[in-house]
Amino acid sequence: QRHLLGIEQLRPEEIKTVLDLADSYVDLNRSTQKRSDVLAGLTQINMFFENSTRTQASFEIAGKRLGADVMNMAMQASSIKKGETLIDTALTLNAMHPDLLVVRHPHSGAVNLLAEKVNCAVLNAGDGKHEHPTQALLDALTIRREKGRLHRLTIAICGDIAHSRVARSNLILLGKMENRVRLVGPPTLMPSQIDQFGVEVYGDMEEGLRDADVVMMLRLQRERMDGGFIPSEREYYHRFGLDAEKLAHARPDAIVMHPGPMNRGVEIDGTIADDINRSVIQEQVEMGVAVRMAAMDLLARNLRAERAAQPEDVY
Ligand code: CP
Repeated sequence: QRHLLGIEQLRPEEIKTVLDLADSYVDLNRSTQKRSDVLAGLTQINMFFENSTRTQASFEIAGKRLGADVMNMAMQASSIKKGETLIDTALTLNAMHPDLLVVRHPHSGAVNLLAEKVNCAVLNAGDGKHEHPTQALLDALTIRREKGRLHRLTIAICGDIAHSRVARSNLILLGKMENRVRLVGPPTLMPSQIDQFGVEVYGDMEEGLRDADVVMMLRLQRERMDGGFIPSEREYYHRFGLDAEKLAHARPDAIVMHPGPMNRGVEIDGTIADDINRSVIQEQVEMGVAVRMAAMDLLARNLRAERAAQPEDVY
C-alpha cells in the first residue's frame, strides 16, 4: 500500500506484518543503540491540525530513530491562519518533495482527501471521528504481547464510542482478527450505525465487562460533541467510570487499556490507571513508537519500490 489511511483498508495478514516488524522495533528501542538507517535520505513532515502529545511525539521519535529528516510543521503558526486551505498547504509541502506525511485533522476524511493530492506516503494520525489506525495497531501489539494472541479474546471498549476514532479503528481491527468485541456505554454515546460492525452493545458496565480479557476505556470527547448530550462528570463516573468494583466483573487477569489523554475520576479511577498489575497504559505508549517505526518502514519500502519502477522525471 502507498498510504496508511485506515484499518479498513488492511487485510489481517498485513496487520500481522506490521505487528511482527513492530516487535523487532520494541527490541531496538530497548537497546542502548536505538538507531537504524532504514529511513535515511527520506524527509518526514508531521502536520498536526489538532492537539496531540503521544502521537506527535512518537511519530517524531520514530522517524528520528530510523534516520529520517523530520520536520514538525507548527500548524498554529502556518499560513492556514491566513486562510490557506488544507489542500493548498499540502500541495505547497508536496512541492518540497517530502517522502512521508503524517497528518492529524479534526475533520473525518480530510487525510484521505489530502492523500489524493500528494506524491508521497501519507499516514493518518487521526481524522475526526473516522480512524486512528496507528493507535489501533499499537493497541493490538500491546494486547498480543500481554495475552500471547490476538484472536478469540473478549474485549470491552467502554465510554464515548460515538465520537471516538480510536474505538472505530479498534473495533474494525479486533473484528478482522476474530475477537469478540463489546461496546459499553450510554445509548447517547453509541454511534447510530453500529450493526454493520458485528459487535455486542451494552448499556451497563457490570454486564459488558463480565469475563472480559481486555477492558479499554475512552474519554468523553467533548470537542466533538457539537453541543449535544454532555453527561455530568459525577453521574458519568458513577455509572461508567472504571473502578475496582466494576473491574471485578472482568476476568481476574484482564488488562486495562486507555489510549490517552486520560481524565482521572471521569472515565477511570486513578488507582486503576496506576495499578501496574492491571494497567498497560504506559506499555501502550511504548508500543506506539515501535508501531509507528514499523508503519513508516513498510511504507518507505513500498515507496522506494514504486519510485524504482518509475522514470526519474515522474517524481
Ligand atoms: N492517543 C492519542 O492519540 O493521544 P494524543 O492525542 O496525545 O496523540
